[in-house]
Amino acid sequence: KKLTIGLIPGDGIGKEVIPAGQQVLQALPSKYGLTFDFMNLKAGFEEFKNTGVALPDETVQTLKTKCDGALFGAVSSPTHKVKGYSSPIVALRKKMGLYANVRPVKWVQGQGIPVDMVIVRENTEDLYIKEERIFNRNGEKVAEAIKRISEKASWKIGKIALEIALRRQKVREQTSDSIHKSASLTVVHKSNVLSVSDGLFRETISNLYKQDLAKYGSVEYKEQIVDSMVYKMFREPQIFDVVVAPNLYGDILSDGAAALVGSLGLVASANVGDNFVIGEPTHGSAPDIQGKGIANPIATIRSTAMMLEFMGYPEPAAQIMAAVDANLKENKITTPDLGGKSSTTDVVEDVLRRL
Ligand code: NAI
Ligand code: MG
Repeated sequence: KKLTIGLIPGDGIGKEVIPAGQQVLQALPSKYGLTFDFMNLKAGFEEFKNTGVALPDETVQTLKTKCDGALFGAVSSPTHKVKGYSSPIVALRKKMGLYANVRPVKWVQGQGIPVDMVIVRENTEDLYIKEERIFNRNGEKVAEAIKRISEKASWKIGKIALEIALRRQKVREQTSDSIHKSASLTVVHKSNVLSVSDGLFRETISNLYKQDLAKYGSVEYKEQIVDSMVYKMFREPQIFDVVVAPNLYGDILSDGAAALVGSLGLVASANVGDNFVIGEPTHGSAPDIQGKGIANPIATIRSTAMMLEFMGYPEPAAQIMAAVDANLKENKITTPDLGGKSSTTDVVEDVLRRL
C-alpha cells in the first residue's frame, strides 16, 4: 500500500530531525508492503516572517485532501505577543480535529528510574480555548481566561485513553517487555477545587468506564489530584501506566515526565483524531543547538512509529521502536544531550542499520 505523508519541518532543529522520520519510513523492510510518498509542507515562525502567515491554507488543504498522515517538527513561538501570529501546531490540531495528544515516556531497561507510562492529553479545550480578556476594575487591570470542559470531549479522550490501555496490555502479553503486570488508567483532575469543570471531566470518564466493564474491566481505574500526581510521578513513576488529563495539566505533566528519561530529545508524541494523525517530537525548535548537527533525532523517529501505529500499522511501528531501544541500550552512538559525541546523522544511520 502506498501512503502519502506530509512533512512539516517548521523552524530550528525541526528541519534537522524531520528527515530522520522520512529516512526511517523509507528503510522499512518490504515485508510490510508499505511504500511512501512525501509532501513537504510549510508552517512556522520563519514562514510567518516571510509571508505573514504561520500556517498557510495550502498546508491544511494538502493534509486534508492528499495525505494519510503527517510529521511535524517544531516551531519557534515568541513568548511576547506578535501581532497576527499564533502557534501553527495549536491551529493545526484544531483544524484537523486532533483531539488527543498522546505522549509515551519509557525508560531504557537498566538505565535510570523505571518508567513506562503514556500521558493522554485532551487537546481541544480547557484553558487553551484562549478566551481571555483584560479589563479595568476600579482603575486596576484584571485579566481572566475561561476554562471550558465539555462532556463530549471528556468522553472522547477517556475512550481513546482506555483503548490505549487495552492495546498496551495486549502488546505486553506478547513481549513481556514492561514493568507493568496489568493495565491501569489514572484520571488526573483538581475537582476538589474545580468541582464543576474538572468534576465533569472526572465523572464523564468514570461513567464511561463503569458503563462498559465488559470491555474495560481488565483496566484498573484510578484517580489522582493533579498536584499530588506531580509528586507521585517523580517519586514512583513506575506505578503509572496510562494517564489521562485535561489540556493544561496534561501539557505540564507530559513535559515533566520527559525529565524522567533524561532528555526531551527522546520524547515522542502523536496528535490523534478520528481520521488523521500527526507525529510530533515534544521538544521545541532548540535555538541553542540549531545548525550544529547534534539534535537528537530519536523523539522524531519514535513519533514516526507512533504515527504508523495510530494509522493502523502496529508491526512496522514496533520494529522501529525496537531499533531505537537497541540503540539506546547499547548507549554508544548517542547525541550530546545524552552524554554522547555522535551527530544526528550518526544516530539515524545506527537506527537504520538496526532496522
Ligand atoms: P526546546 O524544547 O526547544 O529546548 C529545551 C532544551 O532542550 C534546549 O536546551 C535544547 O537544546 C534541548 N533539546 C530540545 N530538543 C532536543 C533534541 N532533539 N536534541 C537535543 N537537545 C534538545 O524548548 P525551549 O528552549 O523552551 O523553546 C525553544 C523554542 O521552541 C521556543 O520558540 C518555543 O516556543 C518553541 N517550542 C515549540 C514547540 C512545538 O513546536 N511544539 C514545543 C516547545 C517549544
Ligand atoms: Mg508543551
